[in-house]
Amino acid sequence: MIKLRNVRADEANVSTECLILPFFSDTKYSVYSAVDTATGGLISRAVKSGRFSADFKQTMLIYTPGCKFESVMLAGAGNKKELDAERLRQTGSAAIRQLNSQRLYSGVFSTAVLNSAKLKEEFSSAFYLAEGALLGSYKFTKYKRETKCKKCIKELGIISSMSAGEIKQLNAFVAASLFARDLVSAPANELTPSAMASYARAIKSSSIKTKIIEQKEAQRLGMNAYLSVGKGSRELPRFIVMEYKGGKGSPVVLIGKSVTFDSGGISLKPVDGMEKMKYDMAGGAAVLGVMKALSDLKLKVNVTAILPAVENLPGGSAYRPGDVIKAINGTSIEVVSTDAEGRLTLADAIGYAVKFLKPRAIVDIATLTGACAIALGGEAAAMMGSDRELMDRLKKASADTYERVWEMPLFEEYADYLSSDIADLKNSGSRTGSLMASAAFLKGFAGSVPWAHLDIAGTAWSDKDRPYSLKGATGMGARLLLKFVRDIDK
Ligand code: BES
Ligand code: MN
Ligand code: ZN
Repeated sequence: MIKLRNVRADEANVSTECLILPFFSDTKYSVYSAVDTATGGLISRAVKSGRFSADFKQTMLIYTPGCKFESVMLAGAGNKKELDAERLRQTGSAAIRQLNSQRLYSGVFSTAVLNSAKLKEEFSSAFYLAEGALLGSYKFTKYKRETKCKKCIKELGIISSMSAGEIKQLNAFVAASLFARDLVSAPANELTPSAMASYARAIKSSSIKTKIIEQKEAQRLGMNAYLSVGKGSRELPRFIVMEYKGGKGSPVVLIGKSVTFDSGGISLKPVDGMEKMKYDMAGGAAVLGVMKALSDLKLKVNVTAILPAVENLPGGSAYRPGDVIKAINGTSIEVVSTDAEGRLTLADAIGYAVKFLKPRAIVDIATLTGACAIALGGEAAAMMGSDRELMDRLKKASADTYERVWEMPLFEEYADYLSSDIADLKNSGSRTGSLMASAAFLKGFAGSVPWAHLDIAGTAWSDKDRPYSLKGATGMGARLLLKFVRDIDK
């Protein structure tokens, strides 16, 4: 992650490769008169030419020989009255992308114009502009031979009055998301369950206690739904439990699906797109991102993370369709499809939380169903749950971070979709309604504990570039859940 420098200087005196000046399409540019003078009037001439009208995400680059800055970028932020946090993120990112494509690798944002707009949001304009710029400048280059990130922004500055505290939060939110993207982008031969455990252990802080439950102990605890999923793989499962203690009372439990590769198992997936199933641990990645941020921010909350990490492969010792297995809470499950493995891992994780952690609430986040991606595409995660207040809090955090969630119904009748002839439940039913059926499956394991489920199958990975994430891992859920736990007592 590139470092953000908070610059306290006048625009005209900033030395950088590019000075980025945001403009509204419906207000005058006179705030920049000192810069304009320094450039000999190049900016005002560009504006008067009519070619730059400051439309949302429009940019124009002007070379400014003889000035402290090598160039100026005019960055359109659209109509002032339409400005909000999300438009700021996208404006920041659009400017950075443009910088990159012009082979300019450092820049400094001005925020003077933006400050004249009143935002409804918690943070300043500078915060969101920088958030978008930092998120948008991420690129996963680990496996490229080219010297790491030859063609990436290396340094960003912002002229703002952000406080140290605000900048700290900004860095924490961005780092949480980018950390999640790093893990999701990593291939399954490297990001195994034990590698996930190492990443968890590497998040060190005096307020975090990490416990890795290995196969034997998991067996003793009766987590056979979870363990069955990993039987076909030589990679051993790791049930990761991280307790962050920053406050008083019972913890919020965050559970992230952590299937490091989902081949489908004996119910093998088709060839097309199977390589993407390395992202089946995106829920776990988002949760780890949150845990990292919690310790950085020293938040006064108690949060316990559970990552039931496992790999789903076919093999001579793999679990099979037709098997009946018993979850930690005694529920027997008929395995109809070994590809409906996520819910098996989550069932035991939720069951573990209920049994041992006295949670005030449980939120799970998972790339759980293809049906979720069919229903909502890449625009929103599906949300279902048993508790109105909890879901409303998640909706609020979602609106604040623009990691969108959309509530789907959890009618009682969906429970019938997964009733088995031979066991208490089956893990897969008909294709219709399978998004809701998967949530209905999980609901029983939470019992009376307030619980919500986020299905990020459609949003954790993008096949196209998005405003501030290039195609690939999006980091979905990390910023949303961080905001959610940060505000849990508000
Ligand atoms: N990991 C998949 C869901 C998935 C699909 C995530 C596509 C991202 C993109 C999950 O384990 C799965 O295979 N779900 C099945 C469940 C079915 C067998 C009931 C599905 O949705 O097809
Ligand atoms: Mn599957
Ligand atoms: Zn899966």
